[in-house]
Amino acid sequence: MCLSNGYEGDVIDNMKTEVKVSADEEELVAQLRNYLTEKLTYLLEQNGTISIGVSGGSMPKVWSEALLSVAPELLNWKRIRIFMVDERHVPRDHEDSNLGAYLQLFPQELHHVFIPVPISKQVVHTAQAYEINLRKYLLPEQLNTYPRFDILFLGAGPDGHTASIFPGKEQLEKITDLNWVSVITDSPKPPPSRVTITMQCIQNAKNVAFILTGANKRDVVRAIHEGDKSIPAAQARPMNNKMILFLDEHAAAGVPNRESSESESPPPFDT
Ligand code: 6PG
Repeated sequence: MCLSNGYEGDVIDNMKTEVKVSADEEELVAQLRNYLTEKLTYLLEQNGTISIGVSGGSMPKVWSEALLSVAPELLNWKRIRIFMVDERHVPRDHEDSNLGAYLQLFPQELHHVFIPVPISKQVVHTAQAYEINLRKYLLPEQLNTYPRFDILFLGAGPDGHTASIFPGKEQLEKITDLNWVSVITDSPKPPPSRVTITMQCIQNAKNVAFILTGANKRDVVRAIHEGDKSIPAAQARPMNNKMILFLDEHAAAGVPNRESSESESPPPFDT
């Protein structure tokens, strides 16, 4: 049953946020594949490395399935590079590792596509080494000292965190040369110690795509639409306003003034 409503969504703060609603995981994967196809087609006509940031949690499975099902002629692995928008401070083979989760979903011959997060003993050293890797491997266009990553795929927690930037803990210490990466050691979402790209990096990205499914994401969806800046996910808007939300029906309940999906059954004949 195709319930995707590729409708334009609402105007927020004078900017459009596109909304795609899927009825099930299969449709979500198809919508993500279509989005990746559209963006890769455009980006491959430009120059340089294509930098794509991804999140952990429930994202690895659906995102990996979507990317790996894009038409092979668009999967130019010499130019596509994927990096973690945040990473838990655990060894790569730990069950909590975001990078570890993606590497399990990609064939060995594609593991080089992922930017390594060098896990050191100290989380600060991990963040500093990761920023160096982001600069070295991606060589992104920069705006002032901030990179302009091509696409960031973000999740969000029910509390409105995104990446590892949590409500009330947004002021992350500058601990690297360019402040592309910082750390949190008291994450409300376990494990407590994490590295994360900073909000400035998110806001300088060319495209931001949220993947939000489940009724517990409804309020975050509403906060994003209302521009509730107390919520990190609502702060994560790129400056060119190119933001899209991939939602399921449950999370889409948070989209203001959204018509509930049309039923498939035809209306009863007028009697
Ligand atoms: C992490 C993620 C985090 C995640 C949200 C949503 O490392 O934990 O990057 O930001 O995207 O917590 O997680 P779910 O999609 O599993 O709800």
